[in-house]
Amino acid sequence: MDFSKGINIGDHFEELITTEKFEYPIKDWYFDIIKKCGFDHIRLPVNWAYHCEDYNGYRIDKKFVAHVERAVTEFVKRGYYVILNIHHFREAADDPKSQLEKLVALWEQIADIFKDYSDRVIFEVMNEPTWRADPQDWNEVQNYLISVIRKTNPTRQIMICGVDYSGLFALKDVIPPKDDKNLIGTFHYYFPVEFTHQSAPWSPTYKDLHDLHWEGTEEEKQWCVNAMLEAKKWSEKYGLPVNLGEFGVYKAADMESRCRWTNFVKNTALSYGFSFTYWELNRNFAICEKNRPSLIQPLADALIK
Ligand code: BGC
Repeated sequence: MDFSKGINIGDHFEELITTEKFEYPIKDWYFDIIKKCGFDHIRLPVNWAYHCEDYNGYRIDKKFVAHVERAVTEFVKRGYYVILNIHHFREAADDPKSQLEKLVALWEQIADIFKDYSDRVIFEVMNEPTWRADPQDWNEVQNYLISVIRKTNPTRQIMICGVDYSGLFALKDVIPPKDDKNLIGTFHYYFPVEFTHQSAPWSPTYKDLHDLHWEGTEEEKQWCVNAMLEAKKWSEKYGLPVNLGEFGVYKAADMESRCRWTNFVKNTALSYGFSFTYWELNRNFAICEKNRPSLIQPLADALIK
């Protein structure tokens, strides 16, 4: 794994904007910010399932594909690694087997589109299969999708995850295909969720919570260290690298807690040899001032220093 520090361009290519109305969402200043932070990769969550026909082999809309290709090209040409996934395909996240045909059709197309792209383009099979997905079913589906991708992309790096929202503790149930060394395990870390997601309007459980802090007590820190050890064990068992693909605190929390948490989680990931990809550049968990080309400096420092 030749990359280590990165950021999600979250809530851009997965927003529910119809294909006709969808406009290229990457702003020129993103490149300056990303360079300033010294990141070496970005993750591009993409809602392919929303921009395809549900007949005709689930053909992905050409205009949408062109927008994604433009973004990938812009980042790769500047030397960044780009993690490209299937994001927010809700039915598949809850019940992957029921959506196998569509998942295969999507991956056949995506894999074909990017097959001649630089090896800096990395595929991630799917974002966050939920707790409803059966771990064994998901494992079968994920491994089958890898075999689909391998027909056109025999050596491209592919990220794989477990159920429970790419859960850290679900990684142990991910049994990768043997003899494929171009795989990377990925997990998301938002613990404690009541802290990271307090006041998040989209969450019925956490939307009314506020004023929860993360003090960085020995107990809080040790919990994080112990939890991530699970991913390290998986990494050693299968001889594959691991990426912390999402972590961050929703903007409602106090800035000091956000900074302490972000810095500690990032450092713990690095101490285990994982790469990290912060959630996110310019939306709810952002390191930028809202839609402005300036960093929220304390948070950015916590992430990169
Ligand atoms: C989702 C985002 C959400 C974030 C934090 C991501 O996987 O796609 O919509 O803001 O997790 O909950």
